[in-house]
Amino acid sequence: MTTAETENKNKKSAPAIKSLADIQKPISSELGTFKTHFRQQLNTDVFLLNRIINYLMRMKGKEMRPMLVLLSAKLCGGITDRSYTAATMIELLHTATLIHDDVVDDADRRRGFFSINKVWKNKASVLLGDFLLAKGLLVAVESEEFELLKVLSTAVKHMSEGELRQLKASKLQNLTEEKYYQIISEKTGSLLVACCECGAISASATPEIRTRMHEIGYHIGLAFQIRDDLLDYSQRQTGKSAGNDILERKITLPFIAALRAVNQIERRKMQWLYRRKKKSAADVTKIKTFVEDNGGLEYARQKMELYAGKALILLKEFPESDTRHLFTEFIRFVIYRKK
Ligand code: IPE
Ligand code: IPE
Ligand code: MG
Ligand code: MG
Repeated sequence: MTTAETENKNKKSAPAIKSLADIQKPISSELGTFKTHFRQQLNTDVFLLNRIINYLMRMKGKEMRPMLVLLSAKLCGGITDRSYTAATMIELLHTATLIHDDVVDDADRRRGFFSINKVWKNKASVLLGDFLLAKGLLVAVESEEFELLKVLSTAVKHMSEGELRQLKASKLQNLTEEKYYQIISEKTGSLLVACCECGAISASATPEIRTRMHEIGYHIGLAFQIRDDLLDYSQRQTGKSAGNDILERKITLPFIAALRAVNQIERRKMQWLYRRKKKSAADVTKIKTFVEDNGGLEYARQKMELYAGKALILLKEFPESDTRHLFTEFIRFVIYRKK
């Protein structure tokens, strides 16, 4: 068989991955309702805030968290008004944490635009993040949704803890694989757990189902962040600056895995390079090549698939339905997404 034939055969056997638009289609009217709720929260008469929010509204995110809340609610019995409250809160909190995260990571680009900190500097960014965080929490208080508030405040607490743990690990350059999972489950997993759990709560699910949804969110969260960390190594147009993790000395799974594959001399050399505060484009390329050549990307890919697989197994405990099918597509999108 020629190479082209083998590739074709592989193409046929590999399941097609649905695009984000395809996954959104069956719940497009519900997503529209969410968007209306979300926009309502962004009204303000503070001039500067209004200007930044107008800019923010043009930076379109994937809205994967609201989608996850709605899919979870649907899977657990049906979407209710409470599901929209949860989705709105979560997207507000997510947006706030991204704005703060870009200050912490000194990131220039987000969602294909200059980041808020790049345009309006750190001071305004911190304040806008605070505003969105407060708005998110107020959505719950105003609807007297104290159970959702508890789940979400816990998630935000974990996110801050994860980001702080990561900051320390970047300083000390001493991240182990185990510690990496702890950090990503806190900084990213916790919000995806909240999406699944709040979706279940909003559909009045039993405690057993709620626990299952919690676990599903946890595994999706790990897979989601590993994908994000892999995308930082790729040349794809993700809407963020590629290689920023390397520039910021942020250690992620591909690098951890590659270091393990080489002898001590090589490891020390690469650790020394990674630790450098000012890296040239050539340094970044050197690190990327090292990680690729020593199986770091492949190892991370395998782990990502492992976690997504765990989520899929748990999902199978729900009876077969169109929603379960869509949920499966969502999980597959998480690990094959290009941005
Ligand atoms: C980015 O999340 C932050 C991470 C946890 C990696 P998304 O990739 O979902 O961000 P947007 O909302 O689509 O921009
Ligand atoms: C996840 O980490 C960010 C949050 C938990 C807010 P990253 O720093 O990797 O996310 P990106 O790559 O900036 O979106
Ligand atoms: Mg970041
Ligand atoms: Mg990242």
